[in-house]
Parts: sequence; structure tokens; C-alpha cells
Amino acid sequence: MDSFIINGGKQLKGEIKVSGAKNAVLPLMAAALLSPGESIIENVPNLIDLKTMSHLLRVIGARIEYNEGRLSIDASNCNCFEAPYDLVSKMRASIYVLGPLLGRFHQATVSFPGGCAIGSRPVDLHLTGFEKLGAKIEIKHGNIIAECKGGLKGAEIVFPFVSVGATANLLMGAVLAEGITTIKNAALEPEITHLIDFLNAMGAKIEGKNTNTLVIQGVKELKPTKIKVIADRIEAGTFVIAAAITKSPLKIVNCNPEHLQALFTKLEQAGCHFRIEGDTVLVLPAEVIKPVDVVTEPFPSFPTDLQAQFMAYMTLADGVSHITETIYPDRFLHAAELNRLNADISVKNGTATVSGVKNLSGAKVMATDLRASAALVLAGLVAEGQTTISRIYHIDRGYDKIEEKLSNVGADIQRIIM
Ligand code: EPZ
Repeated sequence: MDSFIINGGKQLKGEIKVSGAKNAVLPLMAAALLSPGESIIENVPNLIDLKTMSHLLRVIGARIEYNEGRLSIDASNCNCFEAPYDLVSKMRASIYVLGPLLGRFHQATVSFPGGCAIGSRPVDLHLTGFEKLGAKIEIKHGNIIAECKGGLKGAEIVFPFVSVGATANLLMGAVLAEGITTIKNAALEPEITHLIDFLNAMGAKIEGKNTNTLVIQGVKELKPTKIKVIADRIEAGTFVIAAAITKSPLKIVNCNPEHLQALFTKLEQAGCHFRIEGDTVLVLPAEVIKPVDVVTEPFPSFPTDLQAQFMAYMTLADGVSHITETIYPDRFLHAAELNRLNADISVKNGTATVSGVKNLSGAKVMATDLRASAALVLAGLVAEGQTTISRIYHIDRGYDKIEEKLSNVGADIQRIIM
């Protein structure tokens, strides 16, 4: 298992380019199953999770080619409507094939996703949503077995709370359902807006983009299309915090600043400033970091996927901050690892209390999940001495060559290949 060794305390300088968004590519890849023919997705980063999704689509019978950020998916010859345990257990987003397979082939078997390091993560909203659209669903031998003879039928789905995954999955099913589907309390995340653009370009009829009510008029068939993936707002946000925590005036290029407003607001409260021009953000970091409270919520509020990284920043604030997680109340495994680096964090009932310290100090730590690993990298960049982060396969799931991007702006970070 690879590790990172970081010698902290280096000032960073220059530009970091943001890659395409993992969490946007995953549903687009599943959506490509909705039509025969070759769909093209451009600006695709080279990430483990996307390789896992490619593997799954190949099992289903799609032909996949990936070359320098261009992903081609030909779903003409799909003949196996199954997502097996070994792939679903590696990546929960495998559940995204349920909607397209039910929509186009009227059947799907998907291994039931278990828990993971950030919490229990049920899929009940996905399943009750498909039942509303007329699917019969059985859970047997650890599998979700779903079928809808004659196809899905439009219906009204009202989510009790916002779910990105359930919104995407139901959208992908509803586009080929007979009649009209209404999804209320739909997620507003940019990755959902992007999926709607892709589906509509395939010939779907979805109205209500950027609102929480989506109205889908089912169509008989879809055609393949081409799309360029939006910038990864979580990768961009991680680099913005890298600039803030190292007090370096970094330029983050190729991002969409509109997707980062909640982060900018909190960093401004901490004392940072930003110069935004088009798709470029120049971060002007705070000299003294003011403590700021954060509550994670669905978009456009503060994202759970930047909670760990923001916590790393707050460990060096001049005072006490509180970080409350409402999406995954157990997503705090990074707190104990940050404490190994001399942070002072205690967690109780879904809220972390972070008492700022003067300095972090390098130590051996362990990555527990994707964003936790990013938080440890950020902390390692400013910790005195050497930080070794083990189990960095987590970070390779969602950050394309993070060590290369950070070394290019002056960080002392090295991958040790075991
Ligand atoms: C997506 O997960 C992202 N994953 C996550 O990114 C992200 O943290 C999350 O949205 C929230 O923004 C992908 O896009 C592949 P949800 P998803 O359904 O869709 C509960 C990362 O680091 N829930 O919006 O699975 C759920 O447990 C990650 O890149 C149910 O109870 O998230 C959570 O508490 C990890 N039943 C809340 O809803 C359901 O059927 C929101 O989850 C579905 C969800």
C-alpha cells in the first residue's frame, strides 16, 4: 500500500489546475447505458473510482475506451444486467446502474451496498422511488433484484430529504418511463444539473433544472451524445484550502467559482480574500486565521466533502470553532488522525469542537476515507517536520495525481510505492 511522505512548512507558489469532477463522471457513465451507440465524455480524470465504474460497465457488456481524458462508452451490446458484490463493495456509486438498466432493459440485479468508513449510507430512497415507478424489488442473498415488466411508469416521487444519488438514479430511470414523473425535493448539486444537461442532450425531456422540482416527460428512446465534464468543485476547494492553510497566494485555475460560494463565505469569515476572474481564483490567505463555525448541508450550503479539509484549516485558528456534520453524522474519523498531528479536536453528537493550536507537528497517520486523506495532506503541508500518511489508496479514488499537482507549486510531498 502506497504512502505519502510530506516535509511540511514549504511556501507554495504558482497555479494548480483542477481536473474534471469524479462525482459528475460517475452518473454520466451510468447514463451512457441508456442508449445504444457510442457516448463520449471528455475531461475525465484518471481515478480508481472511474476505473471501477468502467469495469462494471464492461461486465454489463459495454465497450469502454479511455485515452488522455476522453472516455468512450458504447452501450450497444449490453447483455448482463448485474452489478456484482466485488465491484459494489469497492464503490457504492455502482448503484447508479440500477436506474439506466431498469429504464432500458426493465431488469437489474445490484449487490446491496454495505456501510463504509463515513457511515451506514442506506439506499432506501432509491428503492422506494423505483417502486413508485412500478418496479418490483426484492432483496435476496445480499442482492437488490429489480424488474418492471413492460417498463417503468411515470409517477410522483417526493423525497423526505435531499439525496444526490437517489435524485440521479431516479432521473436516469424516469427518462425512459412511460408518462410523466415528478421528483420533489430533488438535489441541486452541480453534478445533478450536469447530468440533466447530458440526458437532455441524449433526447430526454427534463424540466426544472436548478430547482428542487424536476418534471420528466418519458421518451421511447435516447441517442448517444458527447459532453465535457465540469470542474471538480471538491478538488478545487481542497486546493483553495491548501493555499489558505499554507498562507500561500495560490492561483486555482480551471474551476467554477460559482460552485464554491459556500466555501468562500466561510474562508472570508476566517480572514481570507479572493480575486476571481472567469475560471480562476487567486487566494489571498489570512495571516491570522479567525475561528469559523460550519454546518454541512446539501448544495448550495457547505459541502460535507470539504468538511474534513476545512477542519484541518481550523486546527490552526486563533480560537475555538465548531464543525457540525448533518449529512453523515459519523464522518469524523479524520479528527483522531489530526490530533496525532497535535490538533485539539473533540467530537460529540455530530459536532467537532476544534480548539486552534499554534503549530501542527508531523507524525505517522492513516487515511481512513477519501476526504479524510485530503485533510491529512493539507495538515501535513504545514506541520513541522515529517508526516507520513499510509493507506493513500483512498486519495487515489478521487484526486488525480495530487502529489504531482502540489509538488509543482513547491510542496515537498513524495509517494512511496510499497
Ligand atoms: C454523493 O453521495 C457523493 N457521491 C458523496 O461524495 C457526497 O458526500 C454525497 O453525495 C453528499 O453530497 C457521489 O456523488 C458518487 P446522498 P450519495 O444520497 O449520493 C442518506 C466523496 O467523498 N441517504 O446525497 O451517496 C445518506 O446516508 C463522496 O466524493 C439515505 O438515508 O449521497 C446521507 O446521510 C462520499 N437513503 C444523505 O442521505 C438513501 O436512499 C445524503 O446522501 C440515500 C441517501
